[in-house]
Amino acid sequence: MELEGKRVTLGVTGGIAAYKAAELVRLLVGQGASVRVAMTEAATHFVTPTTFQALSGNPVFTDLWDTGVANGMAHIGLSREADVLLVAPASADYLAKAAHGVASDLLTTLTLARDCPLLVAPSMNRQMWSHPATQRNVATLIGDGVGVLGPAQGGQACGETGDGRMLEPAEIVEELVAHFQPKPLKGRKVLMTAGPTFEAIDPVRGIANLSSGKMGFAVARAAREAGAEVTLVCGPVSLPTPRGVTRVDVTAALEMYAQVMRRATAQDVFIGVAAVADYRPQTASDRKIKKDAAPRLVIELVENPDILAEVAALPRPPLCVGFAAETGNLAEYAEKKRRAKKIPLIVGNLVQDGFGGDTNALILFDDGGQHTLTPAPKLALARQLIARVAALLESTHAPH
Ligand code: PMT
Repeated sequence: MELEGKRVTLGVTGGIAAYKAAELVRLLVGQGASVRVAMTEAATHFVTPTTFQALSGNPVFTDLWDTGVANGMAHIGLSREADVLLVAPASADYLAKAAHGVASDLLTTLTLARDCPLLVAPSMNRQMWSHPATQRNVATLIGDGVGVLGPAQGGQACGETGDGRMLEPAEIVEELVAHFQPKPLKGRKVLMTAGPTFEAIDPVRGIANLSSGKMGFAVARAAREAGAEVTLVCGPVSLPTPRGVTRVDVTAALEMYAQVMRRATAQDVFIGVAAVADYRPQTASDRKIKKDAAPRLVIELVENPDILAEVAALPRPPLCVGFAAETGNLAEYAEKKRRAKKIPLIVGNLVQDGFGGDTNALILFDDGGQHTLTPAPKLALARQLIARVAALLESTHAPH
């Protein structure tokens, strides 16, 4: 229930993506939001108001002159009683009117009369989107503080391919959830690692571990929600990239090391969530090793660089945060790692709590002692960790 108690006024304009707005209402309501829908006349040609009424459980507004509204002022009520006005899909026509303060129907009047933030999810043909007039309008809206979500690239209803597809409803919900989070990392840069690494033995075999990447991806999402510019260097995982996060895929620890070190100096924060292999085979065979090659197979391992320790040893290091997964003696081992790597904060978790699952139990260790977080979904814990990181950063590091 990420949107519990939030009041969303959803504006729907005329475009084929209007059918996806029905799914959007379903998802918003499912996350606990109370949703009221205002449709343009054009939108009613694509989806009926009855659909939105059934899904939102509220009356749907289509007309500025609706006599059913007590004081005849739906445009005032719909904005005063909302925490956000979300317009999805937002047509080129709507964006143009919103940018120029035109108030010619209920939705545009409501847009002008609102006293809540406006988020728009554009949806149109690629040429309409790239037209200088639309781009000017979007720039004006951004300058006015409007949040522009997307658009995405891909196949369009007209058969063409390019920019202009409305974001998927689940992506819009993710953006809306982020919108409501506090922004203590605004203007800050966060570099992170996540997932396992895979150290090749031969072309088809290697040494890996059971990290799913879920904890790291949750931390990346929480950091981005908090306003940071986030780069996530991740080992082989099959998770969708959190919205707005720059993802760099790597396989082995040496690649992760190289990708981190080339970016590390420009960062405010570095968070190592990855379960990096401490060792790799000294040489990886370029051919598949045959079982009949020898009765015993000995693979010599050499140490991988310690990415976190090396970032922490830079002349002007970012604020460095580590993770430690242990099977026991968590406090002792986590503190030992914190001291060895010379980092201000390490996050301890038990292997049996952390690896693979959707929930975790974390203990934060820093100079002030230890602080236990109540077991919770990884995203909820990640948000608490990011709040702690932001507070530490505020007291120790000026922005880059
Ligand atoms: O991915 P999930 O399934 O959600 O699981 C999450 C997790 C359990 C993997 C995660 O929460 C976690 O604890 N990650 C750290 C695992 C660990 O014990 O790492 P470590 O003790 O080997 O390393 C300590 C710290 O140094 C870590 O921040 C690690 O990223 C970093 N390190 C380690 C070795 C190395 N060569 N380079 C590093 O940067």
